[in-house]
Amino acid sequence: MDQHIAEAIGRPDLIRLDDRLVCLRFETMKVVSALAAVRRLLDTGAVRRGDTLLDSSSGIYAYALALACHRYGMRCHIVGSTTVDRTLRTQLAVLGATLEQMEPCSDLGLDQKRRVERIHEILAEHPEYHWMRQYHDDIHYLGYRVIADRIREETGGATGLTVVGGVGSGASTGSLARHLRGAAAAPADVELVGVQPYGSLTFGAEHVRDPEIIIAGIGSSIPFGNVSHELYDTLHWISFDAALAGSVDLLRRHAVFAGLSTGAGYLAARHERERAPERTVLFIAADTGHRYVDTVHARYREAAPIEHLAPREVRDPSGLALPWSRMRWNRAPAAPAVRGVGRQG
Ligand SMILES: Cc1ncc(COP(=O)(O)O)c(C=O)c1O
Repeated sequence: MDQHIAEAIGRPDLIRLDDRLVCLRFETMKVVSALAAVRRLLDTGAVRRGDTLLDSSSGIYAYALALACHRYGMRCHIVGSTTVDRTLRTQLAVLGATLEQMEPCSDLGLDQKRRVERIHEILAEHPEYHWMRQYHDDIHYLGYRVIADRIREETGGATGLTVVGGVGSGASTGSLARHLRGAAAAPADVELVGVQPYGSLTFGAEHVRDPEIIIAGIGSSIPFGNVSHELYDTLHWISFDAALAGSVDLLRRHAVFAGLSTGAGYLAARHERERAPERTVLFIAADTGHRYVDTVHARYREAAPIEHLAPREVRDPSGLALPWSRMRWNRAPAAPAVRGVGRQG
């Protein structure tokens, strides 16, 4: 039996949608990561019960950290983006986490930068707070190990496994690939496919703007130390409209009610499955659809049939174009502009 709700929420479902398409479905993905990170900080004496943990979040990490703090008797302070909605705000308040929400700002990149600046101000006032640095501290990789073990067990017979997921901090996709590939002596045949919104700096798409809103949680306008570029084989850039079509199709065809990054991942996963008839493709569903009802699912009549969508193949980021592009990354290191941020924050 679980000892706290966070353990139940953190455990994902593995659902076979058809013979070679598997959904790794979380209620809220980062709970498993935050629990393991806080546990490690306590075990190593980096923090003590009652200390305050601080971070910035656009949504699901705030909830995850608040639950982990509740589980382990810590205080929690969040600098939240404009995308933190009423449901989350209310839960954070009752859970005892404090939230500073940034002023509304249509540019989510600017919102991200302002949140980092605010974190530095808070740390100057409260040097005793522990900054979690979910985007930079690889302590956030730890929690995904048990999930990789479970995926390995349950897809054991598959000759090759392709893992597809949105890349925000990079911890979930990076950690799953690292653990699934396992020991260097006998590496498993695991390909990693990252999904990005247009405008994201992480893999060099900052020059292509998506006129619709950015997909919350994936992509970045600043370099993140937790993204291990050399783990990714292929990348897909997917527009808001195409991700919307994916989210609606996933609900209609497979009855999975999930968010926008999942809709984008589902499109990419279907495409990868068609290209490689011998492989099993697993995509990550990071959150449920509730936050996206008005902006995504209620617009189901506008959704393009996904059979009409296909990616444009590009050789380098200069060829990227809306609504969907695909590029082989071939486990290349980060471009110089994105490298070197290290894990300083
Ligand atoms: C909805 C959603 N999907 C995907 C991700 C990406 O996860 P990660 O930070 O592990 O790369 C996030 C991260 O915030 C997210 O909020």
